[in-house]
Amino acid sequence: MKKLLLRMDRLRILPGRKEPPANEQPDSMDEYYGNGGFDFLYSLEELSHYMVILGYIRYFVRQPAILDVGCGEGRLADLLDRQDYKDYHGIDISPIAIQRAQKKKLPKTRFTVTDFQTWDPDRSYDLIIFCESLYYVQQPQEVIQHYAPFLKKGGHIIISIYRFLDQGRIWDGMDQGFKICAADIVQNLRGTWDIRVSKVKVRIRPAIISRNQILFCSIISSIR
Ligand SMILES: C[S@@+](CC[C@H](N)C(=O)[O-])C[C@H]1O[C@@H](n2cnc3c(N)ncnc32)[C@H](O)[C@@H]1O
Repeated sequence: MKKLLLRMDRLRILPGRKEPPANEQPDSMDEYYGNGGFDFLYSLEELSHYMVILGYIRYFVRQPAILDVGCGEGRLADLLDRQDYKDYHGIDISPIAIQRAQKKKLPKTRFTVTDFQTWDPDRSYDLIIFCESLYYVQQPQEVIQHYAPFLKKGGHIIISIYRFLDQGRIWDGMDQGFKICAADIVQNLRGTWDIRVSKVKVRIRPAIISRNQILFCSIISSIR
């Protein structure tokens, strides 16, 4: 059965949802956007998990500065009310997605084409959001550790993951150095999403510390 599902995954006929298989090369993302491969994100069934994220955005910080990592066409930004946020920065590897996001001319938003595995923010944020974007990297925990120092004091990370095949692996080790503040399971006819909000246990200043040192510090803090 798992073999059949894996084959369906390869053929992009996931039950209820179509999207690139996990660990797809990021440079093929433009192809996906070009072929309408991510249009399903605008469907009614996808609304539920975005709504939970919106609820968290409103609950945790008043008028936050938001970084949306792997923002795509800015679907989440579309759904935000102007007064929900102070400013919003979306980053994505797909130039097509970012162009579409920019065309929407959403207030107080900025969009950048970049690879989130290597990009370094030049400021800090109240909320850093990974909405359906961690499937495509080999080491999602490293990505989270990389962005954690760019959270403001009291800031939170929000992660949303659709359940399919081995995508539960993304959560492995995710809590290292973090305290989980909220965890939800969203389920509808299309499928199931896990959504978590976490905050850093020990804050680290990004400017003076390299990526390897950040990982090292986080291991120390989890040992303590
Ligand atoms: C399923 S889409 C979700 C888009 C958006 N977060 C949403 O919910 O509408 C996954 C997104 O992650 C982006 N992505 C994947 N790997 C990336 C990387 N290494 N750097 C930047 N973006 C990446 C893809 O281009 C795509 O837009």
